[in-house]
Amino acid sequence: MKGKRILLVIGGGIAAYKILELIRRLREQEASVRAVMTRAAKEFVTPLSVASLSGNQIFDDLFSLTDETEIGHIELSRDADLVVVAPATADLLAKLAHGLADDLASTLLLATDKKILVAPAMNVRMWENPVTRRNVASLRHDGILFVGPEVGDMACGEYGAGRISEPAAILAAIEDILRGDTRVALHGGQLAGRRVVVTSGPTREPIDPLRYLGNSSSGKQGHAIAAAAARAGAEVVLVSGPVALPDPPGVATRHVTTASEMLAAVEAALPADMFVAAAAVADWRVAEVAAQKLKKGAQAPVLRLVENPDILARIAQNPGRPRLVVGFAAETENLIDNARAKLTAKGCDVIVANEVSDDVLGQDENEVTIVTRGGTETWPRMRKDHVALKLVAYLAKLLEADHAR
Ligand code: CTP
Repeated sequence: MKGKRILLVIGGGIAAYKILELIRRLREQEASVRAVMTRAAKEFVTPLSVASLSGNQIFDDLFSLTDETEIGHIELSRDADLVVVAPATADLLAKLAHGLADDLASTLLLATDKKILVAPAMNVRMWENPVTRRNVASLRHDGILFVGPEVGDMACGEYGAGRISEPAAILAAIEDILRGDTRVALHGGQLAGRRVVVTSGPTREPIDPLRYLGNSSSGKQGHAIAAAAARAGAEVVLVSGPVALPDPPGVATRHVTTASEMLAAVEAALPADMFVAAAAVADWRVAEVAAQKLKKGAQAPVLRLVENPDILARIAQNPGRPRLVVGFAAETENLIDNARAKLTAKGCDVIVANEVSDDVLGQDENEVTIVTRGGTETWPRMRKDHVALKLVAYLAKLLEADHAR
């Protein structure tokens, strides 16, 4: 985002405080930010905070002579790579939908020739009001881009759709759009209306109160898939083993430790349209977990192991089986043959196979081969978050095709 110019229109809502974090992140990525505040916005965050974080003066007055001599409102609206409205209140959306221009913010939105991304934030009743529904439909029709709103608890104590997207999700949408990818922001996502369950990270199987059997899965790939599915509009439940990653934005994350807990959390999250088993589940657990810390003695302890439930196989054979069940296969040899065998043995629809070596585990890149009953395709080595985006787009198409049958 280096050198990209963002014109940020800040509307007046309780969510305005989150925009300070967005500005900080944009600046971290070396984008330049010019902020316009509505009169109401200044009731929620101070112009001084916005100016300090953005490193630029803020603009708020259409008739201010200084503003017009230094930079005119037309120039302000066009001298940007993208216009972002956040929080986009019901009032700002209504003005934008109807071409009203009675203050600096609305005038800029009418005058700009750049793409406009809006991050709505309002009470659920306001979001669901038929007037707002009409405004949103006509804005979408006009090519206005959307990120969010999310479903969740609201500042006013109600629950529903209307929460502003997290700064990370708004940032991701800005990055997509600046890369020229407007599909998600334009159409509301290929997975809109779908429910997706993803497992990620390792599991830990206790030996005694302090020790466990574990593995070195970082969870990066699974977390990236959950985030990508959420960005594609799905309602996502991520069941994560212990990882050092933050919960992805817009995703309901359930934290578990053992394979048995992971299975229970996945079953509780069903029904779903799609299940992606990206976790590195421990194949075995210790049969008798010691109640107290094992002490050194004359003899080293012998641990008896019992097999853990195979979560992927269980879900694939579940009576309420998701329409698409996707597994991972980490192999050190005979990648395709082993992946094919796993597809049949576990009863899933897709296996994402990768050759594991030190340069994949915990790293940011991955090279995968997609194995289905119809054939295989190998994707070039790329960042794990890009594998996630490509995989989600691929799986969304499979779901659509399945739906059409
Ligand atoms: N998996 C699972 N539950 C388990 C073991 C594995 O859900 N108890 C899932 C993983 O999330 C992954 C897939 O199964 O999607 C493949 O796991 P892997 O460990 O490679 O395969 P295994 O069945 O354990 O076979 P092997 O270790 O012999 O290769």
